[in-house]
Parts: sequence; structure tokens; C-alpha cells
Amino acid sequence: MALAHERVFGQRSGARGEPAPYKAYIETYGCQMNFADSELVARILHSIGYGFTSQPEEADLVLLNTCAIREHAEEKIWQRLKYFHSLKRRRPHLVVGVLGCMAERLRQKLLAEAPVVDLIAGPDSYRHLPQLLRQVEGGHKAIHVLLSREETYADIAPLRVSPHKVNAYISIMRGCNNMCSFCIVPFTRGRERSRPWTTIVEEAKSLAEEGYKEIVLLGQNVDSYRDGAVDFAQLLARVAEAVPEVWIRFATSHPKDMRDEVLETIARYPNLTPYIHLPVQSGSDTVLARMNRGYTAQWYLQRIEAIRRYLPKAVISTDIIVGFCGETEEEFRETLALMEAVEFDAVYQFMYSERPGTLAARRYKDDVPPAEKKARLEQVIQLAQTLSLKRHRAQVGSVQEVLLERPARKNPADLAGRTFSGYPVVVRDAAEKYKLGTKIPVHVTSATPATLIGYVANDN
Ligand code: SAH
Ligand code: SF4
Ligand code: F3S
Repeated sequence: MALAHERVFGQRSGARGEPAPYKAYIETYGCQMNFADSELVARILHSIGYGFTSQPEEADLVLLNTCAIREHAEEKIWQRLKYFHSLKRRRPHLVVGVLGCMAERLRQKLLAEAPVVDLIAGPDSYRHLPQLLRQVEGGHKAIHVLLSREETYADIAPLRVSPHKVNAYISIMRGCNNMCSFCIVPFTRGRERSRPWTTIVEEAKSLAEEGYKEIVLLGQNVDSYRDGAVDFAQLLARVAEAVPEVWIRFATSHPKDMRDEVLETIARYPNLTPYIHLPVQSGSDTVLARMNRGYTAQWYLQRIEAIRRYLPKAVISTDIIVGFCGETEEEFRETLALMEAVEFDAVYQFMYSERPGTLAARRYKDDVPPAEKKARLEQVIQLAQTLSLKRHRAQVGSVQEVLLERPARKNPADLAGRTFSGYPVVVRDAAEKYKLGTKIPVHVTSATPATLIGYVANDN
């Protein structure tokens, strides 16, 4: 799953545009699921009268929705808390809360070591935010970090604040039952549970009515979605039928669980996009066994082969961890070899970061020196760029339908979007003529490792 960088919730005032009595500021770190959670939190706050701001300096309530996946993610939060501490000196009534995975993991430590923190709520505790805030108003610290076996927030409509209304997330499940030895998520998000399929279809329909053009279905392991008789392939089919005009993506697939039925279903519906994010983590069987991933490199390559068989235009991305416990030079080379064999369209690479309490932390030594991890990371980046460029260049000359999603970063005359299959595209000179949310044929004229570049086809 692509890790979104910090995102800021804001640009809203009161319910009907009047200034709201209390203003909340939410800063989100980590994965797309955390971002989706912030939208739930926003709805809960909105329902008790909060408005929103994108300026922490003018907020009455600051919430940090945190990530614990790597040490670095947590270091960033400790730094932000220092800043909010200084802010609170100037605005003594300011309430500061920590939500999300780091709140779940570090609870007492946060209370003990960051006196600025008034409130702590884990991923399954957001329903309790109103009571927790009352507790804080009463002069107490408030903490709720119980994980639940049932909570899916199925009845809470996320308050979406994306200014463009083009893409929306729907969380279809929560938690994770896998025990990848490196991973903190099962500890911070608890047991896996699926949200009732009817509520997912209803949410998709109302998004389509509101004008959203693309929906991303989210789960740590979407392939194990199950609600009664409805599995992930059936869920995809039902969503695809309910909103035939909307492009449907999803993440994350797990190589050990991804079934042919899912691929077959994607091939069958014109609005299910053939974009597959399939984290491999390593190309070495011995490392994969230590990671407890439940598959071999050979198995993974067979899954890739199945994807290409059912979906010849599939765009495939992956996550790779370098420098996992005991990873030898030879084992690392097997990862590079697998990357070459697959020719990934995009790779998200990470240096292994030991997480206290995980299987790996208890069982193995984090013994690859930091400099070596860094050198391996560099090699993965280099190869990934070469492969992306090769894949992207193969698209040059084609005309593909592109959903225009947002202004381009570099040139205000351009717009950025994605092809149906999932390639990022910069569309030159489109900003003046075309609205965001438009789907339009684009003639791809060049490519970089990061993106395709093109012009609206037949644009006179
Ligand atoms: N559920 C998703 C991944 C969630 S975390 C899945 O199973 O693929 C996103 C990515 O972070 C993982 O795929 C992994 O590559 C990386 N990651 C997780 N734990 C890590 C750790 N301890 N150190 C470094 N990277 C890690
Ligand atoms: Fe973590 Fe593995 Fe679950 Fe992904 S599948 S969230 S890597 S335990
Ligand atoms: Fe996501 Fe980070 Fe939690 S990746 S699930 S926010 S630990």
C-alpha cells in the first residue's frame, strides 16, 4: 500500500458556512486506511458541532492520526508534539489528541513523556471521542485504546474533504490476521473483520451520486474479505454493478491469498481497474520464511503470471523491505532477480525497522548494519527506476483513457491523473480546457520513471 505522506484536513468552517464554535485540525500519517479513518473522525467531530481548519495555529483541538509502521514514522510524531507543546503555551485552552496506530502502541508512554497530550484514542476507539473530549473538558486526561472484534464503523459516513471530489476511499475491512514477523499492524489494529457488503455498496452508490469518479476499496488484506457468502471477488462484482460509471481500485492484495476468481472478475467488468498492488517484500525463500509471509518466490511469480494471463494490461506494483534480520548479500540479490523477472511498474521500498513486540523482534536479530541497508535500498531504487522507465516507455505512442485527478505539481497549465490501468500521467495544457474529474483519451508522448506524459488526443 502506498504510504501517503502527511495530509492535512481543513478548509472547512461551520456546518452551514458560519464560523464554528470549536475548530479542529487533523493531521494524518501512514497508509490510506489511516487517511480514511481521519474522515470518520471528522464526521464524528462534525456531529458534535466542530468545524475544521487547515491551520493548527487557529485550532481549538489538534488531532494527530499516527502511524507506527517504522521507527521513523513515530519519530516524526514526537517532533510534531514538541511543536504543539509550544503552540499550547500560547493557546492554553488548546486540546491535543493522538489517534491511530502509534496511540495504540505507545499509550502510557505518550501520556508519561508528552505532557502536551490530553487525549489518546486507538483505531477502534473513535466512537468514544465525544465522551473522551468531555473528559478532557472536565480537566482529565482521556485514553481509550481497547481493540474490538466487531467495530467497522459501517454506520458512519466519512466526512470527505478532498477539494476535487474525484477519488474516494471506502474501508471494507479492518485489522489483520496475518502475522508477518516484521509487522506491527496486527498489534495496532487488532483482529481482522469485514464490513457488511450492503453498507459498502450503499456508500459506493452515494459517492457516485455525489459525482466521485473513482473509488478505492481498502483493507490490509482484501483477499480475505468475507461477509457471509460474499467474498472479495463477489464484493467487487457487486460494487462494479452498483456504480458502473465509477472506476474501482483496491488495495492491498496478499500473494498467498489472491485468487483467480478475483482476477477473472476484474477482467469481466469494464469499471474494475487492472491495477494490482502485490507486496512481495523479498525475493528470497529463506527471508520470506523468516518474514512468515506464507509463500515462496516461485509462488509469487506464478501469481504474477496469473495476473498477466487474465489481465494483459495490468499495472503491477509492490513493496520491498531490504535488510531484514539475517538478510545476506545472496538473499538480497534474489530480491533484485525477482524484480527483474516481474518488471514491476512501481516499487515502494523500505529499510527494515524493528518494531518492539513483533515476532521478528523477539525471534531474530536486526543485524544488517544501517549503512548496508541503505546501500541495498539504493540498489532497489536504481533497479526500480530502470524497470518503471522501461514499462512506461512501452506506453509511448498509445492513446489511453485518463481520469484527470488534480493540478500537476510542476506546471499549472498541466493536470495530473491516471490511466484506467493505473499509470500516473501528466496531461499537458489541459488545465484551461478540462475540469478535474473528466475522463479523456490521452496520447502518451513521453515517459519518465515516475510518470507518463501526454496530450489530450485530437485536441484542437
Ligand atoms: N497490509 C499490507 C501492508 C501494510 S504496511 C501488506 O500486507 O502488504 C505497508 C508496507 O510497509 C509493507 O508492505 C512493508 O513493505 C512495509 N513494512 C511493514 N513493516 C515494516 C517494518 N517493520 N520495517 C520496514 N518496512 C515495513
Ligand atoms: Fe502487516 Fe502482513 Fe498484515 Fe500486511 S498482511 S498488515 S504486512 S501483518
Ligand atoms: Fe497504516 Fe501505519 Fe497503522 S501503515 S495500519 S497507519 S501502522
